[in-house]
Amino acid sequence: MSRRFPKGFLWGCATAAYQIEGAPAADGKGPSIWDRYAHTPGLMANGDHGDIACDHYHRFREDIALMAHLGMRAYRFSLSWARILPEGTGRINAAGVQFYSDLIDELLAHGIEPMVTLFHWDLPAALDDKGGWLNRDSADWFAEYARVAFGAYDGRVKKWITINEPWVVSDGGYLRGTIAPGHRNRFEAPIASHNLMRAHGAAVKAYRETGRHEIGLAVNIEPKYATSATPEDMAAAHRASAYMNEQYLDPALLGRYPLPLREIFGPAWPDWPEADFDLIRQPLDFLGINYYTRAVVRHDAADDLLRAMPVRQPGALYTETNWEVFPQGLTDTLLWIRQRYGDIPLYITENGAAFPDPPAATHGQVHDPQRVDYLRTHLLALHEAIAKGVDVRGYMAWSFMDNLEWSLGYAKRFGLVHVNFETQARTPKDSARFYSQVIASHGECLGESPDTT
Ligand code: BGC
Repeated sequence: MSRRFPKGFLWGCATAAYQIEGAPAADGKGPSIWDRYAHTPGLMANGDHGDIACDHYHRFREDIALMAHLGMRAYRFSLSWARILPEGTGRINAAGVQFYSDLIDELLAHGIEPMVTLFHWDLPAALDDKGGWLNRDSADWFAEYARVAFGAYDGRVKKWITINEPWVVSDGGYLRGTIAPGHRNRFEAPIASHNLMRAHGAAVKAYRETGRHEIGLAVNIEPKYATSATPEDMAAAHRASAYMNEQYLDPALLGRYPLPLREIFGPAWPDWPEADFDLIRQPLDFLGINYYTRAVVRHDAADDLLRAMPVRQPGALYTETNWEVFPQGLTDTLLWIRQRYGDIPLYITENGAAFPDPPAATHGQVHDPQRVDYLRTHLLALHEAIAKGVDVRGYMAWSFMDNLEWSLGYAKRFGLVHVNFETQARTPKDSARFYSQVIASHGECLGESPDTT
């Protein structure tokens, strides 16, 4: 069977500002909640922080040259809000606007299409001081910032993403405290989620005033499978999915929340003004899907939020972040989205894995057979969904290069390109070479027998 991908399918890779840029105060940039969080003792693995990261702020031209060398056709990256508006609203920092302008020009000069995420978690600290995503004004702040970005780059940028993974911001940032701003409050989590979705809607609405191209939302979808067919386990899987998946897709695409959220949050679930849903539910040009893993869950009365417990799968391969490798979940996810939400154009905006790579060898090679295999099997799973008629238009591998894996630090490596954080040397891993072949053959080589040498 041919594994050729549809004509025009967009092959690329992804990163996010705080994970790669460094230069936290360069050229007038304001602080973000990540600058604060990473410098709060005890919160980051190994005391790591993003002050230098991949030094991409200074090395973006060589990074883009390497992307072009590998054959990338698209690059998804995020803008640092606080580089552009150091206080989050009001004063525009011309040098920050210029940085991304130069980056976009460099991409275009190399024939690489920019895909821009407006918000990938690094909220300006000045806005956190006003309550961050708990403040209803955050939707207006975000729309103001989005307008500045659209005004500066739309035209050169043809694909926009409002927010990356609102679930992670709410769950990690406001419920469990594992990422910035580090709160642990069940009452805050639904409010943060709701305001993130209102902000998404406000930015899409703003885009329709002047924007000439496409805008969408990027969500992380983790399909939930019940460990048995008992009603208890099935209900547990249903709640887990409502919390992580439908909590964001339902309001954005259907204009309502899934019913189990009221049961999950109990008294912490507010009654929302009906008009909010008109703002949240904006027609989207596409949806970005970030897929990494699945969860198999069983009923667990002791879990006080979801009453569900993930069950480790014997014999399965787990990545360094403890995520089961389960390519079939990508096919299932894409089919489920079409079935629940209809035919909306999709991009895979992230997919990848952390594995323990050997240090870059002196002769410039990094063998990462597990990542090669992860890529191959997930691309085949993606091809299967496309063959079944799902409208997927592109794939952005996570990540272009090793980077700061948020509070897990630099030890978790997701890159196609190895980064030596002492010297900043970049070395394409075997997975980068493999992906280059996939791009060059438009997927055709996926049908050939594996060769991981
Ligand atoms: C995020 C990335 C992150 C990746 C791996 C996603 O949740 O968007 O920023 O590095 O997954 O954890």
